Amino acid sequence: MRIEYPHRHERFGAVRIHDTTQVIELDSGLDGEEDEATVQGRMVSLVPPAAVNAIERRMVIVVPTKNERRKVIEGVLSGIPHDCLIVMVSASEREPIDRYEIETGLLERFCHSAERQAIAVHQDDPGLADALTHCGMGSMVDGDLVRRGKGEAMIIGMLLAAAAGKEHVGFIDADNYVPGAVHEYVKVFAAGLHLASTPYAMVRISWQSKPKIEDGRLVFNRWGRTTHVTNRFLNLLLSSYNGFGTEVIRTGNAGEHALTLELAKRLRFAGGFAVEPYEFIDLFEQFGGAQPSPHPEVARSLVDVFQVETRNPHFHEDKGDDHVSGMRLESVSSLLASPICPESVESEIRQFLASEEIDLAAIPRPVVYPPWETAELDAFRDHVRKTDTFRAIARRRASGVVVEQPL
Ligand code: GDP
Ligand code: CO
Repeated sequence: MRIEYPHRHERFGAVRIHDTTQVIELDSGLDGEEDEATVQGRMVSLVPPAAVNAIERRMVIVVPTKNERRKVIEGVLSGIPHDCLIVMVSASEREPIDRYEIETGLLERFCHSAERQAIAVHQDDPGLADALTHCGMGSMVDGDLVRRGKGEAMIIGMLLAAAAGKEHVGFIDADNYVPGAVHEYVKVFAAGLHLASTPYAMVRISWQSKPKIEDGRLVFNRWGRTTHVTNRFLNLLLSSYNGFGTEVIRTGNAGEHALTLELAKRLRFAGGFAVEPYEFIDLFEQFGGAQPSPHPEVARSLVDVFQVETRNPHFHEDKGDDHVSGMRLESVSSLLASPICPESVESEIRQFLASEEIDLAAIPRPVVYPPWETAELDAFRDHVRKTDTFRAIARRRASGVVVEQPL
């Protein structure tokens, strides 16, 4: 892959947020050697296939799924590069039709045809809740069950990735209509993580466009409204510390992103849809230098956040903007609660909410979970393996011989 290397970034303590750059060439060929050159004023990095592949072998792709269509999920699976381990965390309905059975069935068939391995588990499985309680992540459990939400599904995926001995984790939504886009996202994850100069790195995808059909025509919109709001306040926070206006953050709501497990395990993740923007808030709180860091080893090093604009359009299930905006406002409300949110930003947020006639009290604060670095992975693995909905699909040759077990 040939990818533009950012030459500008904004810094908040140890966190470097790089300018958004572009994919130049999806496939840079077999002959290209690792290289960096300035071409027409742009820094161009060539990441050879072997380097991309070396990261993919150590990466888990978590696919959170909730009632998505079978054909769409199949397309998504087909786009995930072969060497990545797939982890599906489902919250789909099991009554009157057991959608989870359908999902695991298609996952098994896919793995069988492609000779690859995968893990699946259902979020509403009481045994999973039990496994979380036993490993020290009991705060994710409410009653006998794991709390609902995408953030929760992502944490489960990360624990499975760590238990499987991997080093990186990427997230791909199950409702993407374009397998080629999925493929590109994962290649970008791998190229970005390869280029990072620190073990604490994150790559976030910025969509080139989000096409919609309006009046029978295909319209390529650049920004969703929620994205605009989230980015604006995150940038304002950054400006208030650096003293210069900035628009560097363009991926506040990026569902498609990847990070090293070294970084992931130290972060506090939020529940539900607040999860992606909250990652920025937590990076700033923990490593921004405005308050003492619970992880001085990271604060002394660097955290690299890359933002990459991909070539494929982002075509996903349209679930309506309103529901999404409501959910995403959770992260705006958590900014208000953050100890690092200065008064100037707070008053801007309040003004915005008033102008939109949104009652702050009506926005739920997201639940925020402690970092999973202290979770006992062995206990988690032992418990989760025994639970009803857990599936570990082994890599088998066409002859049926098992080559590799995922967990
Ligand atoms: P959007 O694309 O950001 O508007 O959000 P979606 O509603 O498409 O959700 C993103 C992905 O997360 C999709 O693949 C959903 O099926 C999945 N998802 C949403 N909520 C949950 C949940 O509570 N649990 C799980 N496991 N997956 C979820
Ligand atoms: Co979606």
